[in-house]
Amino acid sequence: MTIPIPYELRDDLYRRPLAAALERLGDMTGFRCVDVGAGGGDVSVALAELCGERGRIYAVDIDPVRRNEIASRAARFSQVVALTQAAEELTLPEAVDLAFCRFLLLAVQEPRLVVERMVATTRPGGWVIIQEPITSAGRVGRSPISMDAPAVRDAEIGAQVLELLSACRVEIREAWVESPAGMGDTPVARYLEAMSGSLVVDEQIILPPLLTAIAKVL
Ligand SMILES: C[S@@+](CC[C@H](N)C(=O)[O-])C[C@H]1O[C@@H](n2cnc3c(N)ncnc32)[C@H](O)[C@@H]1O
Repeated sequence: MTIPIPYELRDDLYRRPLAAALERLGDMTGFRCVDVGAGGGDVSVALAELCGERGRIYAVDIDPVRRNEIASRAARFSQVVALTQAAEELTLPEAVDLAFCRFLLLAVQEPRLVVERMVATTRPGGWVIIQEPITSAGRVGRSPISMDAPAVRDAEIGAQVLELLSACRVEIREAWVESPAGMGDTPVARYLEAMSGSLVVDEQIILPPLLTAIAKVL
């Protein structure tokens, strides 16, 4: 049996690849951004901090409950606008400087369409950043991790992200794969417990790596 992965745990464990990706863009003051599949709004808040009051962050999620969560979590940031919308139909009132998604493409029926919408929503010269897992590249001891959750359609989608982006009008500037790892009763073990239902403290764990892709829109 699996239990829902607490947002705070995911945010902590995968904050490093997020920070590394956003750092690559340099000064983001005043950026217009969209966080697609925003979930609990962790990325939207990180973007709001980087873009400042002159920026704007559209936090888009298909689930209306998320809209309310994000609105309350980001209440101190007037620049965050929470929207209920399907990523496949992503439509914003303006072109953005950055379209971002993390742990979204694994859940959607048509990842190709979502990537196309993200690119179409970004101004020429703007950025698309995608962070998606390659679940079976994670390990418990020597064994690959698998994921079987109703909301997950393709737990290996990270292995396809560069192909999906290559079909669009973008130049892929950088890509890498990064995973949190640990041993003992650590946040890494607790995250795996939420994924799999069992707590492992006596083996090395490598959580599903995230493939990060940074692409410039042509
Ligand atoms: C695993 S959560 C990830 C949340 C957040 N991006 C993060 O990294 O913490 C996936 C989110 O995508 C949303 N989602 C799933 N399918 C979607 C779709 N077709 N369009 C927009 N959002 C979607 C879900 O409601 C959920 O909030």
